[in-house]
Amino acid sequence: MYAYDELDRTLINERVSEFRDQVKRRLSGELTEDEFKMLRLQNGVYLQLHAYMFRVAIPYGTLSSKQLRQLAHVARRYDRGYGHFTTRQNIQFNWIKLAELPDALADLAEVGIHAMQTSGNNTRNVTSDQWAGVAPGEVEDPRIWSEILRQFTTLHPEFSFLPRKFKIAITASAHDRAAIKIHDVGLRLHKSAQGETGFEVMVGGGLGRTPFIAKTIKPFVSGRDILSYLEAIMRVYNQYGRRDNIYKARIKILVHELGIERFAQEVDEEWQQIRDGALKIDDAVIEEIRSRFSYPAYEKLPHMPDELRKAAHDPKFEAWRRNSVFPHKATGYAIVTISLKPVGGPPGDATAEQMDALADLADKYSFGEIRVGHEQNLALPHVARRDLPALWTALEKIGLAIPNVNLVSDIIACPGLDYCSLANARSIPIAQELTQRFANHETANLIGRLHINISGCINACGHHHVGHIGILGVEKNGEEFYQITIGGRADENAQLGTLIGPAVPYAEVADVVEDIVEAYLALRANPDELFVDTVQRLGVEPFRERVYATR
Ligand code: HEM
Ligand code: SF4
Repeated sequence: MYAYDELDRTLINERVSEFRDQVKRRLSGELTEDEFKMLRLQNGVYLQLHAYMFRVAIPYGTLSSKQLRQLAHVARRYDRGYGHFTTRQNIQFNWIKLAELPDALADLAEVGIHAMQTSGNNTRNVTSDQWAGVAPGEVEDPRIWSEILRQFTTLHPEFSFLPRKFKIAITASAHDRAAIKIHDVGLRLHKSAQGETGFEVMVGGGLGRTPFIAKTIKPFVSGRDILSYLEAIMRVYNQYGRRDNIYKARIKILVHELGIERFAQEVDEEWQQIRDGALKIDDAVIEEIRSRFSYPAYEKLPHMPDELRKAAHDPKFEAWRRNSVFPHKATGYAIVTISLKPVGGPPGDATAEQMDALADLADKYSFGEIRVGHEQNLALPHVARRDLPALWTALEKIGLAIPNVNLVSDIIACPGLDYCSLANARSIPIAQELTQRFANHETANLIGRLHINISGCINACGHHHVGHIGILGVEKNGEEFYQITIGGRADENAQLGTLIGPAVPYAEVADVVEDIVEAYLALRANPDELFVDTVQRLGVEPFRERVYATR
């Protein structure tokens, strides 16, 4: 965990009292909704279909049990008893009352949580691998760098009014769990041939109306130079990014229009001016930030303790263990993913009771730490393998031992028409229907790793472009239709999916997905070939045929 300093606490508290005053003026009518809009957006407050929505940042997806308990308290005290974990390491509260928002913010500030820059045209919450610091084989803990970037980007005067929002994601592992290639800037930590730590810098990724996979602008930028290099990118974007058309304002459009070589050249010219200036990071600063991260004192534990050997006879436990428990860098420990995708439930929702119970379990079994991933699931990052059976039993009791991580019912979905004022179609009910269709664990296991992503409109909050199966809601003559893409992926081999044919009506979506899955089972080269690899090998044609032959 990272320990915040006095500066952070002061900043957060000042922000709360400033916002309290703004809300007071809005409630008294001194400010119109229009005047208030800019102020509320700077504090993560949106106006949805039915109510205000409040988006809270979870920097690099790391939460202490104390912080999770406070999120549960906010859900219970100010909302309808639940929160919604999103695809960008944020949590959203959907039913918050404006008059109570300052109190909610003040309660969160007590545990060092805030909502700054969770909306608006600035750098958003810097996201990272939810296994950061515990993943075997990572170059180093990417959160050290995420934290440096968090400090650099928070209330940065020059970049508080960018042409559009700006998202940065970092990974330090060969396998990308942070979806860095669909971010405005993606950073991959690695070592140079000389053993120096630095970054491959990718730029211009993003989803929405015009999706792009990020391109590498520089294969290696030394860690010490990363702030000046990023500042150079932001300056070029701030200067040349379009402000006349919201759909063309993202950096991906600038990179596309200039071409990556021209863009890289512009950035390089800017960088040469500033690279040896104030933004060069001293080793002492890196060490200071590194020292603020504390790690558990791991014991020396066996990889296969008796408790685990015994529990392996229970098929229900084994079913859960096989897809929820992942290797850890310390022998005898494991990372446990907690699926927030129950059969028939809205993906990513957790009740206040579940959050409280998870905070207790984190205290008991994971050194008081919880992680939040972009797949809308949580994780306990430091579980001793001998505790896995006891943890599983406890998770069963709170309905969170859901054995579907990475399986077909582990669906990412945006809120869609149930909440969102921009939606064309429903997302959550589609996800709910699909989890029911694929509720049988044996079948799901047979299908293997398959990611379904659903968005209720072209803004792509549900990352549909990069779903192995992507589902996009569109409106046709006042009715909900869905475009289906296949073959997308958000990992180190990120790729946009391909449309398989005409949009289908709401009632047919689940049937179409079943057809696609059945086609895959018949077409795969062997049981180990993943859905997305079969699509890669064969293209979309056989799937298109299967879906549309009878429609
Ligand atoms: C009130 C609810 C929401 C509103 C009004 C909203 C609005 C938007 C808009 C306008 C965009 C398009 C931005 C662009 O053109 O680049 C967008 C994109 C996005 N939103 Fe949301 N959103 C909402 C909820 C959510 C939720 C619940 C999630 C996560 C589950 C989410 C995550 C994202 C992501 C990941 C993108 C993708 C943009 C990109 O990759 O470039 N949003 N959202
Ligand atoms: S994808 Fe569209 S419908 Fe879904 S949350 Fe985003 S803006 Fe709303």
